[in-house]
Amino acid sequence: MTPAIDKEWWRDLNSHYPPYLGHLNHNNPIKTQTEIDAFLSFVDPLIGSDPGQRVLDLCCGPGGYAIALARKKYKIWGIDINQTFIRFIREAVSQSKDLGQYPESIVGDMRKLPFKNAFGFIYSIGTSFGFFDDQTNSKTLQSMADILKPNGTVVLDCGNRDFYVRHLIEKDWIRHSDNQEVTIVKRRFDILKSRMEAEFETFGFKAKRRWSFSWRAYSLTEMIHLLEDIGLQIQAVYGNWYKEEFSRDSKRIVLVCKKKGQDI
Ligand SMILES: C[S@@+](CC[C@H](N)C(=O)[O-])C[C@H]1O[C@@H](n2cnc3c(N)ncnc32)[C@H](O)[C@@H]1O
Repeated sequence: MTPAIDKEWWRDLNSHYPPYLGHLNHNNPIKTQTEIDAFLSFVDPLIGSDPGQRVLDLCCGPGGYAIALARKKYKIWGIDINQTFIRFIREAVSQSKDLGQYPESIVGDMRKLPFKNAFGFIYSIGTSFGFFDDQTNSKTLQSMADILKPNGTVVLDCGNRDFYVRHLIEKDWIRHSDNQEVTIVKRRFDILKSRMEAEFETFGFKAKRRWSFSWRAYSLTEMIHLLEDIGLQIQAVYGNWYKEEFSRDSKRIVLVCKKKGQDI
């Protein structure tokens, strides 16, 4: 029988997110160095034009990117709804001498952010957008725009709907690094709702675990409309962190946007 999609699957990664937690340790906050380097070479010049500003990693996960930016001496905050990830970042900060006080990490919900005009630079990456219904997704973008200072910059990175329509891998598996468990992944793209739905089943020495998630995949056109509707101006669009030209076959949509200044 097909398990029902967990509505708020992101809340409890402890019970059912083995691809994340199976590999989580302070030497390996999931991201590879190649992924982190590609991200840094993209954002560093954008943030670097004003290194004194506050930077926010919205939906920071276990902080692979935020920690890398803190090492570059940026004043960076991370927000995530998952307490395990926030605890993980706090431990990394307390154990690493080169991090100082950053990243400052906060348990929070992107639908209701506790700031106003607070950050000069915000990024939300690695498919951290699209978990809710369309209306709530738009509101989430609005609250992100509200906490951005006038003239501030946003970088978004999300999955490209057009890619999933053409290249969906329906069945896949992940062998965990301890070699004791394997996760089978089944994916489905709901063309009417434009939602990606994935089911995971983990087998191995521990008890079998099943979990599932769903997120709305947007096309580039839809993303541009959503962002312009909330007063963000699109500055650039790419297909990845290496600034390759965006096409329908790009796996990712990478957008750089600017909030209008108060006088405009
Ligand atoms: C796919 S992960 C990406 C994590 C990180 N940005 C990265 O690229 O490694 C999505 C993240 O969004 C977080 N998340 C989900 N819903 C959230 C919400 N309502 N508010 C804040 N964070 C949320 C999850 O806990 C998870 O860490």
